[in-house]
Amino acid sequence: MDDAVIKKPIVIPDDWPGYSLELFSYPEHYHEDIDSVYIPHGVIMNRVERLARYVMDDFGDSIVVLCVLKGGYKFCVDLVEFIKVLGRNSNKYLETRVEFIRLKSYLNDQSTEELQIIGSRDLSFLRGKSVLIVEAIVDTGKTMKALLKHVETFEPKMVKVAGLLVKRVPNMAEDLTDYVGFEIPNHFVVGYALDYNEYFRDLNHICVISKIGKMKYKEQSN
Ligand code: HPA
Ligand code: MG
Repeated sequence: MDDAVIKKPIVIPDDWPGYSLELFSYPEHYHEDIDSVYIPHGVIMNRVERLARYVMDDFGDSIVVLCVLKGGYKFCVDLVEFIKVLGRNSNKYLETRVEFIRLKSYLNDQSTEELQIIGSRDLSFLRGKSVLIVEAIVDTGKTMKALLKHVETFEPKMVKVAGLLVKRVPNMAEDLTDYVGFEIPNHFVVGYALDYNEYFRDLNHICVISKIGKMKYKEQSN
């Protein structure tokens, strides 16, 4: 089998309703705020383990993992943990250094025009390194393209992108993401560190937010 076939994402169809909330355990304070469990935590974990295997296969003996905060933190922690476990269970140990970058481009559920890079701007330690950018969600790819351009100015040896979720939007970014967990329809999702105005990061499943949830946690632009 060729690589493109092996690395196909899990594709969630447009009409996937998710699982009824009552079938799962979740923080009680969110019970009105989400409509369904879209991707259960256990499924996410197993998929992340699989992505860790692809990363192990493709990288040499060391990588710098560049975690895009805040949404990417859970994905990053779990991915790096699986890389370590897989390394212990095989004779290929991938030395990982984890660094963080913080981006912000969303207010409520809308993308704002401007990409802000907050936090570590000086990425000169990336020179000559094999870099894995770890991002929770990629949609149009505008943010990721800007970040890739920024990272490339520091002349790394190689850069790959892991995106837990890729959204099917018009002008979807094809080929930007080397390791995709799930391709999802164009819904706003929360949980597993993905937020809506900083809420829902403490939810383990990936869920669809309800109308009530959107109203309750809405912020005004200023
Ligand atoms: N959820 C949370 N944050 C996001 C999303 C989303 O669906 N898309 C882009 N940032
Ligand atoms: Mg956000």
